[in-house]
Amino acid sequence: MFHSKITGIGHYVPENIVTNKDLMQYMDTTEEWIVERTGIEQRRFVTPGKDTTSSMGTEAARIALDKAGLTPEDIDAVVFATLSPDFYFPGCAVLVLKNLGLVGKAAFDVRSQCSGFISALSMADQYIKTGMYKRVLVVCAEVQSNIMELSTRGRNMAVIFGDGAGAVVLEAHNEQGKGLLSTHIHADGNFAEELLMRHPGACQNPRITHEMLSSEEMLPHMNGNLVFKHAVVRFEEVINEALETNGYSVDDLDLLIPHQANLRISNFIQNRYKLPDEKVFNNIQKYGNTTAASIPIALSEAYAEGRIKPGSLVCFAAFGSGFIWGSALVRF
Ligand code: UT7
Repeated sequence: MFHSKITGIGHYVPENIVTNKDLMQYMDTTEEWIVERTGIEQRRFVTPGKDTTSSMGTEAARIALDKAGLTPEDIDAVVFATLSPDFYFPGCAVLVLKNLGLVGKAAFDVRSQCSGFISALSMADQYIKTGMYKRVLVVCAEVQSNIMELSTRGRNMAVIFGDGAGAVVLEAHNEQGKGLLSTHIHADGNFAEELLMRHPGACQNPRITHEMLSSEEMLPHMNGNLVFKHAVVRFEEVINEALETNGYSVDDLDLLIPHQANLRISNFIQNRYKLPDEKVFNNIQKYGNTTAASIPIALSEAYAEGRIKPGSLVCFAAFGSGFIWGSALVRF
């Protein structure tokens, strides 16, 4: 059987920086509230007409391919994860193929929200393990700034989420004990409505009405307290699962990259495992919660900063809308 390894990593974020102070112009909030509750100091929002989910994903993908020493032609498939695709359909994977000038390659779209990177990575890994594909581009990107409402009504979501993209190249290799060691994904749809964007959903008939457009129901909804409580439990479970599956303990970990949902969640997990600061990577302070893109953006920065070296054991873990949660363990 083949194994897969990450051979290239890239990220792209829009240039427009939005600080907590900037948001105070639009809503009743304070810098203190946002930093204290979430750890976020700023985020990036796309400039309308410039960046889109697929264009940012393509930029991240180009960087990842370049770092892997590959050209677009070398890849067999694109797996794209996002909750904010350019179009209702088709998904963004075909748009990345188009942007890269590729015709005839495989394209898949993943809808796992905050756990999108883990799900996409897991899918790509299965295709590589079976020998079906040799090189898969995993791309995650989000434009969330135009989903939220910059108002007091929308503030509980608007201060948290940001835009950006991350990508990795996954390639087949034959070395035992190296590369992607395992992935673990779980879901509980009983909580589907605790973190969702309901409209424009096909279960509504008519799908959109004039009343809906101005109603609060058009905004994403999150039961923040409940999500938080589940997140801290599931994060720990799924990190333990990744370590135990591979015969490791938390002391063997070189770096934990949690989905950047809230700095308090990351700090809670760090304290549970008594991990020193150098073993946990966070960048939510700069980018907010970029949903599917948060882990690959963090991975890209951690790698560039030298926090990951050949031989490093790295765990990715995520929890979010669905509820879906997952982890992946990688030996670089
Ligand atoms: O990535 C997807 C997964 N998402 C997560 O993992 C997020 C998990 N949840 C959270 O991160 C936190 O629950 C939040 C950051 C969303 C909220 O923090 P919290 O400590 O749970 O606050 P809360 O929702 O209990 O709200 C406390 C108060 C409320 O006012 P009252 O009812 O106490 O008067 C809110 O109305 O804070 C108010 N509030 C705000 N105040 C200022 C809510 N949003 C804001 C805001 N600025 N932006």
